[in-house]
Amino acid sequence: MSSGGPRLRVLPASAWAATVADELLDRLAAEPRLRVCLPTGDTPVPLYAELAARDAARSPSWAQATVVLLDEWAGLPPGDPARCDVRLRRQLLDQLAPPPRFVPIDVDGSDDEAAARAHDAAARGLDLVVLGLGMNGHVGFNEPGSRPDDPTRLVRLAVSSREAATARYGAALTPTAGITVGLGRILEATEVWLLVTGERKADVLRRALREPEGVDCPASYLRRHPRLTVFADEAAVAGPRRRRPRAPGSAA
Ligand code: F6R
Repeated sequence: MSSGGPRLRVLPASAWAATVADELLDRLAAEPRLRVCLPTGDTPVPLYAELAARDAARSPSWAQATVVLLDEWAGLPPGDPARCDVRLRRQLLDQLAPPPRFVPIDVDGSDDEAAARAHDAAARGLDLVVLGLGMNGHVGFNEPGSRPDDPTRLVRLAVSSREAATARYGAALTPTAGITVGLGRILEATEVWLLVTGERKADVLRRALREPEGVDCPASYLRRHPRLTVFADEAAVAGPRRRRPRAPGSAA
């Protein structure tokens, strides 16, 4: 763990997407050949909308940058709406002109282990890895039990991740496995950003940042990275608002 610990940026929800977009575009302006690994999920959706809108308004060009996909379900057919490549293309990449080079995860061949090895090579030497935080402490598909030196690999998904594919993202069937950039590659990157919004993430964020690191919460290993920034909105830090106890005798 770095001596200073993670940089924690707590932002009002209304400024969250614009602030993270500013930082990412500053990074892109300074480093046009940026190699950045991006997640899907709900958390980055407003960030991607902001980046797409900025691009239309002439933000720094993505033309020389490379976007590496963080993770992908195994077993979902090409074009499935839950596919991470489909979601990232729709939410961001297709709206950038000219687009960056995109490195998806090849789950459409017959050998997922070989696809994972190929993506492990693609995920070496990243400049920046952007992550969301799962309610069970996962980052990417590095589910509880993952270790800090894990490579990019084929993994069994936690039940909550399987359910998310159908319930939240509209997958045609329930995947049981996925390929994820491993914690080893994430920790090797030059910089790591963890995006966390909403009060429901407050407990797991506190667990990841404040309690001893451990396999029960893979995100806790991110604290080993010397350049970890957490972009949280206020709710993700404050947690649920305590309901004020009703005064005795007041109406229900
Ligand atoms: C998605 C991914 C996942 C999500 C995490 C949080 O590519 O890697 O680890 O980032 O499950 O998901 P949301 O943002 O939907 O709460």
